[in-house]
Formats: sequence, structure tokens, C-alpha cells
Amino acid sequence: MSVFTTLCFGLLALAAAAPGEDQFDDKQYASKNIITRDVAVIGGGSSGTHAAISLQALGKSVVVVEKEAVLGGHTSTYVDPGTGVPINYGVQAYFNISVAAEYFARLNVSMGPFQFNPVTQVHANFKTGQSVPAPPSPGFAGYAAQAAKYPYLKYSWNLPNPVPSDLLLTFRDFLNKYNLQDVAYSVFLAGGGFANILDQLTIHVFKLIDFSYIRSISGEAFQPVSGDNGEIYPKALSLLGPNGAFLSSTVVAARRSPSGVRLVVQTPSGKKLIKASKLLITIPPLLPNINPFDPTPSERSLFSQWSYTNYFIMLLTNTGLPSGFQIANAVASDTTFRIPSLPAPYHITETRVKGLWYAWYASPTDTTEAAVKADVSAVVNRLRGAMGSNVTTPVNFLRFKSHTPFKLVVGKQAIQQGFYRKLGELQGQQSTWYTGAAFISHDASLIWNFTTTLFPKMFASRV
Ligand SMILES: Cc1cc2nc3c(=O)[nH]c(=O)nc-3n(C[C@H](O)[C@H](O)[C@H](O)COP(=O)(O)OP(=O)(O)OC[C@H]3O[C@@H](n4cnc5c(N)ncnc54)[C@H](O)[C@@H]3O)c2cc1C
Ligand SMILES: *[C@@H]1O[C@H](CO)[C@@H](O)[C@H](O)[C@H]1NC(C)=O
Ligand SMILES: *[C@@H]1O[C@H](CO)[C@@H](O)[C@H](O)[C@H]1NC(C)=O
Ligand SMILES: *[C@@H]1O[C@H](CO)[C@@H](O)[C@H](O)[C@H]1NC(C)=O
Ligand SMILES: *[C@@H]1O[C@H](CO)[C@@H](O)[C@H](O)[C@H]1NC(C)=O
Repeated sequence: MSVFTTLCFGLLALAAAAPGEDQFDDKQYASKNIITRDVAVIGGGSSGTHAAISLQALGKSVVVVEKEAVLGGHTSTYVDPGTGVPINYGVQAYFNISVAAEYFARLNVSMGPFQFNPVTQVHANFKTGQSVPAPPSPGFAGYAAQAAKYPYLKYSWNLPNPVPSDLLLTFRDFLNKYNLQDVAYSVFLAGGGFANILDQLTIHVFKLIDFSYIRSISGEAFQPVSGDNGEIYPKALSLLGPNGAFLSSTVVAARRSPSGVRLVVQTPSGKKLIKASKLLITIPPLLPNINPFDPTPSERSLFSQWSYTNYFIMLLTNTGLPSGFQIANAVASDTTFRIPSLPAPYHITETRVKGLWYAWYASPTDTTEAAVKADVSAVVNRLRGAMGSNVTTPVNFLRFKSHTPFKLVVGKQAIQQGFYRKLGELQGQQSTWYTGAAFISHDASLIWNFTTTLFPKMFASRV
């Protein structure tokens, strides 16, 4: 490198780093790039979008910062061009409680019953493609009776001290203790995305397959009448108005204090300075996501303890599989209660559009899109062989969506040492509030309900 280029790069670096200049100072920004709000919401998925719309309805000014180009998070919909049928390959349905009904009404989205996918379930060992007998499916009553012993889990992480020991058993030990082995496979399949479920703590399984899930599958689930679960997001975006949400944007630096926050946000139209009285963080609270917010020692300590699983959903064509089926992955052996090992697909299922299939896939360890697709292709080939298909051309991946990181959990010792109490104690520190799946559960309606319980506290707090 010549002296000249070295010098130029040096000057460029100097200009970018701007030593002595304060990136949180108004003077560094044109006035159109300074956004002043009551609340800055980080993450425009399920909880962030709901929070923003609800706060706006309470008369608060809001701005959402979302890293993807669209709002919606785990909600993904593909509209089949031939039939116009929407296929949700993410969030499937909502639990019908008042907070959800109010939200849908505010967005003018009509609610209807959940539209079941009428497929016939069969089981196969995905490592061989061979058919296996259906695992037992006793229903959730026995499981639900156990979960009902812990009513505080429904709406909170307010655990008694000491935490009941049954909740800290592995799910395998819990099933053996209460002779509930027969429900294991149903919980595995329902708890998609929670890899190695038998080795997970029972408390985390109860949070995923909870009372709302059980009530939803027995008829209290709803979805938009249109069948398009994504319908709420463009409507929410328009209701938020101009500068209501920055898409394809992330916070790159933050200064937080008890009197408010300043956020430097990288957007497609350059850097903005957001000045807000309150910050509501809804993104997965993993350290890499929280680092730009200059975490406090307690945030750093708590957010470094999570583990999570990798979760993917794909839409496939040219599977060559016989129409009308859900092919669920199972093993013939009872040693794991018929549950196969992961990484693998949970099931490969024809959608409501003939010839268009889902694959739902999880991995306990980090993996890549290429590895997942290769594995799914191999499984489809084995199933073709076993199901008498003569199709040999490669399966086609029409959509591929990563839902990683999914299901943030911490271990037994962390829970015994008050992890969730300490998590709750973060609320309101440095004008920062938290909601989202990690703070309550993977149920949209329950998260929304939890978020609304924060609002009075958010606005009661005084400097
Ligand atoms: C496949 C699947 C199916 C599901 N089905 C259902 C269902 O049928 N019913 C149900 O109630 N729940 C379902 N869930 C549970 C789901 O987790 C919750 O409903 C809900 O979506 C969680 O909301 P959230 O806001 O915590 O997360 P998300 O909806 O994922 O929102 C987080 C948002 O933050 C954004 N983000 C992440 N990092 C950053 C960053 N650094 N800066 C800015 N933005 C960032 C993400 O892009 C995303 O938009 C499902 C989950 C999955 C994965
Ligand atoms: C919302 O959460 C509260 C607890 O915070 C609970 O008492 C209430 O029943 C929940 N509402 C609904 C409709 O589930
Ligand atoms: C919902 O409908 C009402 C009445 O038709 C209308 O006033 C309102 O603007 C609509 N809201 C949205 C978000 O479309
Ligand atoms: C939701 O629950 C309310 C109150 O119980 C009921 O009136 C309504 O029909 C339900 N909606 C759907 C779509 O199930
Ligand atoms: C494949 O099987 C289908 C029906 O099972 C049959 O109609 C078709 O001719 C077969 N194609 C080939 C190339 O064998």
C-alpha cells in the first residue's frame, strides 16, 4: 500500500470515528434526523408491534426499530399465486383473550376460527424413511393437571422460593415420575423448536406447552378471517404513520439514564438520533443484541446465561410425496418415548395448497441453511423411496425462514439462584423496559397481556 492510500484511509477513519465529537449530541444531526418520542420500541415482531400500537392508543408517541425489512418477526405468510390461498409458515394461531381481541379490533382485522389443515397423520423414521406405528396420543389431560399445580406460570415468571423441585426435573424424569410417558411424543411434536425436549427442565416445557396452548387446540384459537396471519403487520405499519417505524434498521449505540434514552440508529436513509423518555426492548435479549445498548453489569450477567435452539421452517415443492399427508418423524423404540433425535425435521406436511409442503426443522446446535436444506432433501428422498414415489428430481425450496434463536432458557442452578427474579428487577432500570417471548412465554396473546401490565408501571415511574 502506498503512503498516499495509507494516508487517505487514515483520514477516512478519522472522519468516521470523529474523535471528540459526541454521536449523541443533537448538533451532529440535521433536525429531520432527530426523532423525539415518549417510547422507543426495539423489535417490530409480535410483541414490539403490539406494544407500539397499544401505546399509541394510550396517547403516547412511539417509534419502532426493526432490523428486517418488514414487521412481523416469527409471522411469515406465503400467498399461493395460483389459488390466492395464504400459507402461514410461522405463527399459526392466537389464543382468544380480550387483549388479543382488542388488538385485532384496533387494526380492523376480523377474527375467525383457526382454519385446520385437513391432512392425515402418518409416522416414519426419517433416518430410514420407513413407516413406524403411530405413537400413543392420550391427550393432554394428565399433563395439564400437573401443569395446573403452578398457576403463577400462566402469566409470569414469579416463582416461589424455593422453586418446586418437580419444575426443575428434566422432562424425562418428570414423565417417569408421574407415569406420563405416553404424552411425551405429543408434547415433542407440539413443542416444535424446543430441541432435546426430554433433557430440558420441566418448567421450560410447561411454559411452551401451556394452558393457553391446550385451550387453543381445544377450540379457543383464532386467526384473521382472511387466513393470512401477516395481515396485522402492514395495517400496524400504516397506523404507526410516517417515521413510526424504521425498518431494516438497528441501534448502533445508546446512552441510557433514569431520565431517558438516546439511541443512534442506522437506517437505510442514514443515521438518526432517537430521543425517548422510555425504551421498550422486545428483541431476544442475547448479549450480541443488547451490546449496542451499553448493558449494565446485571444485564450483561443475566443475558450471557441463555441457551436456545435453532428452528427453521421451509416451504417445499416437487416433494414427490403422496398428497394429503402429514409425515411425522418418530422412532419405533420406547427408550425415548418414540421421540427421534435432532437435528431433523419434526414433520413434513402438505399445506392447504396441493403440492406445496412444509418442513419444520430444529437443531440443538448452531447450523447453516445449506446443512438444513441438505438434510431435508435427504429425508424427502428416503420418504420417496419408502412411499413408492418415482420422482427423482431434487425437492425445491420455495421459502426458507430461520426462527433462530428460539426458546431462550437457563439451567437449573440459574433458576435456583433467582435468575427470573433478577430478570424482573431489570424492569424500569435506566428507563428501560423489557417484553417478548424470553420474558413471558412463546404465546403471542400472553406476551401482549404481559406487555399491557407494564404500561402503568412505565408511566408511573418518575425521575
Ligand atoms: C415457527 C413458530 C411458530 C409459532 N407459532 C405460534 C402460534 O401459532 N401462536 C403463538 O401465540 N405463538 C407462536 N409462536 C411463538 C412466538 O414466539 C410468539 O408468538 C411471538 O412471535 C414472540 O414475539 P416476540 O416479539 O418475542 O418475537 P418476534 O416476533 O420474533 O419479534 C422479534 C423482532 O425483533 C427483531 N429483531 C431481532 N433482533 C433485532 C435487533 N438487534 N434490532 C432490531 N430488531 C431486531 C426481529 O427481526 C423480530 O421482528 C411461534 C413461534 C415460532 C418460531
Ligand atoms: C393478563 O395477565 C394477568 C396477570 O398479569 C392475569 O391476571 C389476567 O388474567 C390476564 N388476562 C387474560 C385475559 O388472560
Ligand atoms: C378501521 O375502520 C374504521 C371505521 O371503518 C376507520 O375509521 C379506521 O380508520 C380504520 N382503521 C384502520 C387501522 O384501518
Ligand atoms: C373469542 O372469544 C369471545 C368471547 O369469549 C367470543 O365472543 C368470540 O366469538 C371468540 N372469537 C373467535 C374468533 O373465536
Ligand atoms: C410415476 O408414477 C405415476 C403415478 O404413480 C405415473 O403416472 C407416472 O407415469 C410415473 N412416472 C414415471 C416416469 O415412471
